[in-house]
Amino acid sequence: MSDVLEQAVSEDIILTNEYLESVLPVSENGYRILTESMRYSLFAGGKRVRPFLTLEFAKLFGAQKRDALPYACALEMVHTYSLIHDDLPCMDNDDIRRGKPSNHRVYGESTALLAGDSLLTLAFGCTSSAPLSPESNNAATALLSDYAGYRGMAGGQQMDLIGETEKYDLDTLIETHSLKTGKLISCACLFGAIAAGYYEGSKEYAAALNYSRGVGLAFQITDDILDVYGDSAALGKTTGKDEKTNKSTFLTLMSKNAAEEYAKRVSDEAKAEISGFDGSEILTRFADSMLARIK
Ligand code: IPE
Ligand code: IPE
Ligand code: MG
Ligand code: MG
Ligand code: MG
Repeated sequence: MSDVLEQAVSEDIILTNEYLESVLPVSENGYRILTESMRYSLFAGGKRVRPFLTLEFAKLFGAQKRDALPYACALEMVHTYSLIHDDLPCMDNDDIRRGKPSNHRVYGESTALLAGDSLLTLAFGCTSSAPLSPESNNAATALLSDYAGYRGMAGGQQMDLIGETEKYDLDTLIETHSLKTGKLISCACLFGAIAAGYYEGSKEYAAALNYSRGVGLAFQITDDILDVYGDSAALGKTTGKDEKTNKSTFLTLMSKNAAEEYAKRVSDEAKAEISGFDGSEILTRFADSMLARIK
């Protein structure tokens, strides 16, 4: 990672962790175990990619990172909930997440389910009460509702499951990836634009959306490649599971080289979308750093 990117990533991780800590302390009530379970996954050491994207787009478009933190952290909560549920026996049945036993392996399936539910609802509290304009908070809340739900991440997870029994063609696979992973990445980038007061119809919003589409697709292609060729200990999650479940992925449709080239092409397109904005270097480097993970 380049110095300028590394510095921004570590600054954003610190800000994110401080804010998450402030909104989700361990509770002393009868539901203490639930808050412990939420915190277990939230602070297990995720890369914080989505908060990073929100904070960096907010900064690029002239907002204060601190003001955008509730949006950034809302997304990390929704992402973490999606991972807790993704690992459940009825979904991917995964034992390791973020380098630790997955949530249900520690707290049991019922509590893991509730931890996911609670992170999702807490997220909406964060977007609706951020120290930004009511217009921004309403736009962010509506966007999260749309992008996390059946037309977004959850819908993509559904298509992903169907892709274990049906062989997908490239277009259907791209649609699956764009929903299950791409929508929360898009939400992250658009949250930055919204925090800065840019809405649908502005060139800033369009640039954030177009960048996010390329980066989101490249992100999931990279995840598919790492599932086959990555190191489980370094990734903090099980590898080889897509093949075991017969999942349709980029590597069931093309060679590793072709998948890498595809990811590079969409990532280059993403970079071009933001090149006209002063200060876009960090986000350009971020797109490069994702591809570097598979090198
Ligand atoms: C993993 O996301 C799930 C996918 C959408 C591919 P990340 O790779 O961002 O996971 P964490 O947050 O770092 O654990
Ligand atoms: C998960 O995709 C995407 C979401 C949780 C929405 P994967 O099932 O490929 O993610 P990993 O590989 O378990 O992290
Ligand atoms: Mg999955
Ligand atoms: Mg999974
Ligand atoms: Mg995966």
